[in-house]
Amino acid sequence: MGAVSFKDVTLRYAGTGRRRRRRAARGGAEVAGTAAESTGATGTGAQSASAAERPALAGLDLEIADGEFLVLVGPSGSGKSTALRILAGLEQPTSGAVLIDGEDITGVDPAERDVAMVFQTYALYPHKTVEQNMSFALQLAKVPREEISRRVRRAAEQLGLTELLDRRPRQLSGGQRQRVAMGRAIVREPTVFLMDEPLSNLDARLRVQTRAQIAELQNRLGTTTVYVTHDQSEAMTLGDRVAVLHEGVLHQVAPPRELYDRPADIFVAGFIGSPAMNLLTITDDEFDRLAPGGTRGGTRADDVVFGVRPEHLVITPDDAGLLLHIDHVEEFGAEAYAHGRLVDSAHTERVITRLRTDDRPALGETVRVVADPERIHTFDRATGQRIEANVTVSASAV
Ligand SMILES: Nc1ncnc2c1ncn2[C@@H]1O[C@H](COP(=O)(O)OP(=O)(O)OP(=O)(O)O)[C@@H](O)[C@H]1O
Ligand SMILES: [Mg+2]
Repeated sequence: MGAVSFKDVTLRYAGTGRRRRRRAARGGAEVAGTAAESTGATGTGAQSASAAERPALAGLDLEIADGEFLVLVGPSGSGKSTALRILAGLEQPTSGAVLIDGEDITGVDPAERDVAMVFQTYALYPHKTVEQNMSFALQLAKVPREEISRRVRRAAEQLGLTELLDRRPRQLSGGQRQRVAMGRAIVREPTVFLMDEPLSNLDARLRVQTRAQIAELQNRLGTTTVYVTHDQSEAMTLGDRVAVLHEGVLHQVAPPRELYDRPADIFVAGFIGSPAMNLLTITDDEFDRLAPGGTRGGTRADDVVFGVRPEHLVITPDDAGLLLHIDHVEEFGAEAYAHGRLVDSAHTERVITRLRTDDRPALGETVRVVADPERIHTFDRATGQRIEANVTVSASAV
């Protein structure tokens, strides 16, 4: 068993309020209200003035099922590690409770919790061999020697570390060290695995390879796993469900496909997906040209932001749509994207469209783009919340 519940968990770090307030008073105002924030686009890195009072984690309610692979994702400083550290018992929440299998463990000592954590810095003991590193926690827990040896050998086999058991960490590659850190968690056979950016020290190729191994291993072991990353593509590929945090607040928790297809608000819309969703602030007239036949769901364009993913924005040869002036073409081999700005539009931010043919528009060329009316997302400009417009209903009914 290993069901985890966060119940209205808040953590306000002592002392940060005052220090932050002073900083906010000095110069906080100048960074507040940037363009990204006014449309709510992604808002990453932008500190608003209210940051002074903001808890690291604010009223987190989250139920994680036994055996689930739950990924916590969000930009730097969003409270991901804080949530994980509270679950591990390394941090005490200011209020709220954490339960494992229905039992309140909020005040329980970290060592008494049946959880194992893998950190970004693997924190291996440099003078111990791989085998000793993996055995150590079990020795402390007074597990019988044969049992330790059995578990270590099995974990080593699962992780492809059998040949390396006698080596010391400095004789290992980054990827191998990462696997030792995983092995050290696995041998403890915990109720819950906690992983905080375990792949971020690996190069891109190894990261993709290792994340496939982690997914496969978790599937095989069936152990509840809470995995933290700031990388939305890692979150989307690993998680049974993905929880999106921003400034200490949980914005949405859903299976990857649902996050992508029906983001609950403008933050999630801009954060999930790469390249990011276009978040368009256009007029009624422009909307009608962009999405002929689409409806605005009874809203006025002035009150909403329209979200269109690059793959749902299409260059059209017809005399329709909006004019897009191309100023950059991004080539990935398998696919390519054109970046540009709408001509004579209320929307002044850049717009990205995925190219569908092998014909690449030339830089400086002006093309016409239309959007699939069924794939347009609508968000309230004031609150950022998703509006269930008529146009999106048929998309899910197909
Ligand atoms: N020990 C601490 N004392 C005071 N404030 C802290 C402490 N640890 C974290 N914070 C603050 O709490 C907020 C959340 O931090 P947290 O480490 O959970 O972010 P994160 O989402 O894990 O970010 P990253 O992706 O950069 O690791 C941040 O604003 C951070 O500055
Ligand atoms: Mg962190």
